Amino acid sequence: MPKTTKKPIISTKDVHKKYHLGRNNFVHALRGVDLEINEGEFVALMGPSGSGKSTLLHVLGCLDGVDSGTVNINGYNVTNMSGSRLTKIRATQLGFVFQGFNLVPILTALENVILAVEYAGKVGRREKVKLSREALERVGLADRARHRPSELSGGEQQRVAIARSLVNNPRIILADEPTGNLDSKTSDEIISMMRELNKTTGQTFIIVTHDTDVGKRCDRIIHIKDGMVI
Ligand SMILES: Nc1ncnc2c1ncn2[C@@H]1O[C@H](COP(=O)(O)OP(=O)(O)OP(=O)(O)O)[C@@H](O)[C@H]1O
Ligand SMILES: [Mg+2]
Repeated sequence: MPKTTKKPIISTKDVHKKYHLGRNNFVHALRGVDLEINEGEFVALMGPSGSGKSTLLHVLGCLDGVDSGTVNINGYNVTNMSGSRLTKIRATQLGFVFQGFNLVPILTALENVILAVEYAGKVGRREKVKLSREALERVGLADRARHRPSELSGGEQQRVAIARSLVNNPRIILADEPTGNLDSKTSDEIISMMRELNKTTGQTFIIVTHDTDVGKRCDRIIHIKDGMVI
């Protein structure tokens, strides 16, 4: 089975990011972030509220650009990449899981996953359904495929979101407080499931969390404070 290699799949060098609020006002959210994460690692990103965790995750996920520094994702220098190439990288190399699940409420579990397949490119209807069913099976939700989010528990909704994040077989999965809305038992199940996926597929996981129990179950904890890795 794939193990952690010494090859960095993510690296950043001196990354700065400011959020501008009007002409002379800004928040300096990232202040020189240097980071290396190896392929197959299962890491936690921890730090106080407002320290820049979500900002960093958005940068690593190519959802947001930087003001200076460089960002490399799976061999691509994404720092100054154009919108359409970034969209492609986001859809094929990266999976996202959020605290609030972010499922489309009027779609079934299966349809939510299918949406991610469609986003990644052209695949026939049959193939889309097949891939999406397989992803739901991998998170143990094959029997909930026709349920809408409101007909699922929080833990189940998060598992649908995880199925959606992995359906295109990305090398990297970024999760922003994936257990933040779940009780401790469900939280434990979700982390166990992610760990299992990490072991079997060798996918790299970066998990933002405030929960020290989650941190303990990771290979490594990256601490961030005031926009810097410490
Ligand atoms: N869209 C935005 N516009 C302006 N400022 C922002 C924006 N997003 C975040 N910030 C600011 O940037 C800093 C870092 O925010 P970020 O959301 O990355 O923190 P965080 O570590 O994820 O915090 P939390 O644990 O509360 O989620 C904070 O000071 C925040 O107020
Ligand atoms: Mg955050």
